[in-house]
Formats: sequence, C-alpha cells, structure tokens
Amino acid sequence: MEKKIAEILGNFTEAAKNASDSDAVEKLRVAFLGKKGEIAELMKDLKSAPAEQKKEFGQKINLLKKDVESKLGELAAAIEKKELEALINSAESYDVTMPSGVETGSYHPITLVQRELEDIFAAMGFTIEDYDEIVDDYHCFEALNIPKHHPARDMQDTYYLDNGQLLKTHTSAAQNAIMRKYGAPLRAIFPGRCFRNEAIDACHENTFFQMEGIMIDKDISISNLIYFMKTMLSEVFQRDVKVRLRPGFFPFVEPGFELDISCQVCGGTGCPSCKNSGWLELCPCGMIHPNVLIAGGIDPEEYTGFAFGLGLTRLAMMKYGVKDIRTFNSGNLKALSQFESL
Ligand code: DAH
Repeated sequence: MEKKIAEILGNFTEAAKNASDSDAVEKLRVAFLGKKGEIAELMKDLKSAPAEQKKEFGQKINLLKKDVESKLGELAAAIEKKELEALINSAESYDVTMPSGVETGSYHPITLVQRELEDIFAAMGFTIEDYDEIVDDYHCFEALNIPKHHPARDMQDTYYLDNGQLLKTHTSAAQNAIMRKYGAPLRAIFPGRCFRNEAIDACHENTFFQMEGIMIDKDISISNLIYFMKTMLSEVFQRDVKVRLRPGFFPFVEPGFELDISCQVCGGTGCPSCKNSGWLELCPCGMIHPNVLIAGGIDPEEYTGFAFGLGLTRLAMMKYGVKDIRTFNSGNLKALSQFESL
C-alpha cells in the first residue's frame, strides 16, 4: 500500500510537469481526484487491507489526497495567471463584457430643450440664428423702442463694460441685426444666453437662456402667433396644450401679451404649481411695433410680424420638473446628467 501511495504521488508529480494549460490541469484532476481516479481506486483497495492497518493506510491516503489537491490548486492558479497574461498581451486582449470605466457625457437640460425647439421651428420653416452676448445699448434697447431713461429699462439692469457695451439682457437684442440681415419676409428663431443684475435665489438667476422668434410677412396677425405658439408647445409637452393671452406691456410690441399655458402639473384644475389658477405664465409675445420694423429697415405699411421671447430656462424647469433655477449653472453633474440624451 505504501509503495502504491509513493507511486501515485510520483506519477502525479511527473504528469503535473507536463501540464501546460487549464485543460491539462482538468484532465489531471479527473485522473487523480475523480470518482474513478487513482486515489478513489486506492480507497477501494483499502477495503481488502488487513484490519489492523486500515486506519494507518486510510490516514496516509487522505494525506496523499490533500497533497494532490493542494499541488493541483497551485498548478491551476499558476496556469490561469500565465494564460491571462498571454491574453492581455495578445491582440484579443479585450473583454467586451467588462465595464469600460469610461463615462459617456450627457447633454445639459437646456441644450436638450433648445435643440428640441430648434427642430420644431426648423420644420416650420424658421431659420436658426446665433447672436453676440456682448452688445451695444442701441441693439439691446433703442432699436427696440426703449429710449434712454425709459422705465422699461429698470427691469433689465445688467453688466456694463468700460467701453459702454453690455451683456445682453434679452434675446430681443438680436432682432434689429436679423431684420437687417434678411429683410422681409422673414422667419427666424435665435436662442441665446442672457444676463441681468439680479439677486439670485431659487427662481432668479443672473445668467439664463431665452429663445426669441420673429415672423414677418404680409398679413401676419395674432392668429398666426397663437397658431405657432400652440403648435410648438404641444410638440414640446407631447400633448395638446391650451394657451391663453393676457395683455402685457413691452415697448417693442403693440399689442403685447403674456402667453400662458394650461398647467402641465394639474391639467388646468388648479394646484400649488400654478397657484391654483390652472395657468402658467410662459412666453411674452406680441405684434412687432412699427418703430422696431422701421429701425430694422422694414416698411410697416407693407409688412407686419409677431415676436416672442420664450424663457428657455423656465421651460426646461417645467419640462424636467427642476425646482431650483440655480441647478442649471451649478455644474452639479449628479443633477445635470440625469436627463435623456438626444
Ligand atoms: N425681451 C423680453 C424680456 O426678456 C421678452 C419679450 C416680450 C420678447 C415680448 C418678445 C416679445 O419678443 O414680443 O423681458
């Protein structure tokens, strides 16, 4: 029996030297530790051993088994390491199921809303225009029928540069340049970043986004304005949105309106979001004032047009349920990266 044990150990050691891959290790395991393997056979032989030697031999076989198991374990680990290294160094070293560790970026919620609106308006024949953030007093105010010392300027205090230029307070500042660039008829939208000298809180920011739109042609009326606003908002909210107009004063439109939409939270029945009125104020608009058309080189006798100034930041807050406006400029990726990508 002792001879047999030594022989098996010798055989195993010899065979282990030649095992060069994990398949060979598995074969070894079956041959020595398997149900019909060498050690199992030895156990059978134990039955016919003399009774007084059974205990001793049994212990020896067990030691042999443990020895083979641990040697086999070491061998398997060494071979696995070698195979992994070879795989890493080979051309096929990547595992497509492994997490990459590279995070893909996401769009800012304002970019998402802006692009969505651009697609909607482009489909309705509007040109998309870009405009400066630093403008002069003429474009931001005077060309819009807001002369110096007009009280409407009070609500639009901003940041002034030493050279007299300023950070634009509204996207309306681009109206004049765009009218001069294209003349009438004209359909354009122009999104942009705006600035105001505001005390910042959950509802106010000094840096925010708007999207302005103008449409100038023969016989443009308030009906056209309502149609375009309603179509655009129904697309954005993916359902039929009711709109209503209330009179509002802006020097560059006549008549001017505040456009409200039915509250998207309660559907118009009244809730805390709409202060129980069923309506949310969303977009000031109106028929372009003749003085503004004249400043833009367009004859108000021949053409009329509408304009609107949509609060993109506000729309993004409504669409995504963002309660604090400061989130947008916070750089807080936890909050900003959770919106659907395009
Ligand atoms: N520019 C205005 C503001 O920021 C908003 C506005 C009102 C734009 C009426 C328009 C308009 O085009 O027709 O307060």
